[in-house]
Amino acid sequence: MKFFVDSADVDAIRDLAELGMVDGVTTNPSLILKSGRDITEVTREICEMVEGPVSAEVVALEADAMIEEGRKLAQIAPNIAVKVPLTWDGLKACKQLAREGRMVNVTLCFSAAQALLAAKAGASFISPFIGRLDDINLDGMDLIADIRTIYDNYGFGTEILAASIRSVNHIAEAAKIGADVATAPPEVLKKMAAHPLTDKGLAAFLADWEKTGQKIM
Ligand code: E4P
Repeated sequence: MKFFVDSADVDAIRDLAELGMVDGVTTNPSLILKSGRDITEVTREICEMVEGPVSAEVVALEADAMIEEGRKLAQIAPNIAVKVPLTWDGLKACKQLAREGRMVNVTLCFSAAQALLAAKAGASFISPFIGRLDDINLDGMDLIADIRTIYDNYGFGTEILAASIRSVNHIAEAAKIGADVATAPPEVLKKMAAHPLTDKGLAAFLADWEKTGQKIM
């Protein structure tokens, strides 16, 4: 499973990238707002830090305008994935941008039928939003499973990018189902290594080691 950082915070991304675990980054207009930075400037900086795909989202609603914005965003760096919303215009823009050889991430996916359309439109990534489905008492993980089944049934190459991840369990569950990518906020990715029994076990080992009076030379 690939790990993307869902953030436009360059310090947080750099921190994780240094661990060698970051395969890409996803941003959206809300994350750009949170960063307080100019979209072109911050996206360029992120693209220089991370080798893999960096999603940058269009904000136009009409296909031709989305395509124009997508082309501009794609000029920022070769590893840009243009993010378009899952609307008919977004799908039209996806088809054209994919035809031009650009990576496209179709975002705001909340149903298996939508995911099927994105694959047919040539999307490199489909972003089903797990957390936002859970928020309205639906099961986001069921959607990941349905999309996996559909894509495997027909051999679609579109990668399932599990998004709107709120917990470490979301990542583990999506991985069990076979999502290709998980994009998560930095704080969730950092929590992945934590377990109270690891801390407890380590403390016990170190206390016993101290008693041996030895040193590793
Ligand atoms: C994905 O690309 C989105 O940016 C993100 O995962 C949305 O997450 P949220 O529902 O926590 O805002």
